Amino acid sequence: MVIKNVELEIVCGVTSKIPDTELPEVAFAGKSNVGKSSLINGLMNRKSLARTSSQPGKTQTINFYNINKFMYLVDLPGYGYAKVSENEKKKWGKMIENYLHTSKQLKAVFLLIDIRHEPSANDKMMYEWIVYQGYDPIIVATKLDKIKRSQIQKSVKMVKEGLNVKPGTKIIPYSALTKQGRDEIWELMDELVGY
Ligand code: GTP
Ligand code: MG
Repeated sequence: MVIKNVELEIVCGVTSKIPDTELPEVAFAGKSNVGKSSLINGLMNRKSLARTSSQPGKTQTINFYNINKFMYLVDLPGYGYAKVSENEKKKWGKMIENYLHTSKQLKAVFLLIDIRHEPSANDKMMYEWIVYQGYDPIIVATKLDKIKRSQIQKSVKMVKEGLNVKPGTKIIPYSALTKQGRDEIWELMDELVGY
């Protein structure tokens, strides 16, 4: 998709109702600090419309970015951030769960995993949960620029095996620095939203 117009249109907090939108949605899930907001900026060709931070726990709301008045990219809060209270964690977890469960326009869920690390118990749970909700998660292996080229294949295999993905699951390595992987993700999204 050629990006002509992007806008942060809806911000959904713990107490807000999940909006009934008219446009197809694609959502981005993953642990805190994995690079969800950075990926969304990269996909929108914007530097900082989606707020990012080296401190985990930056995105605490569900943010709907309207792309060309055609679709939404949905930035979800991260899970697994140790420093927030149990109560807070529960609230965010519920919010993500509720969104995946309620949205009528959600066409696909991308699950982001740091390419350097073996998926955590939370990552596995999230993967299973997305599958349980009836979606085929698409895996984005983030921070590709942090590993050597010679390590890519091995790392992708580690992520696949760690999540125990279903055969045929797509896994796309991505770097927010070099934007490697961006075109492949857009190609897939175009297909998913019927562009
Ligand atoms: P929460 O909102 O806390 O859930 O985090 P998030 O998943 O939205 O992560 P965010 O995009 O804020 O990125 C976290 C940190 O990782 C920031 O310092 C980013 O600059 C950095 N980062 C994200 N993607 C990449 C990448 O591909 N390569 C490198 N080198 N750094 C990245
Ligand atoms: Mg974020």
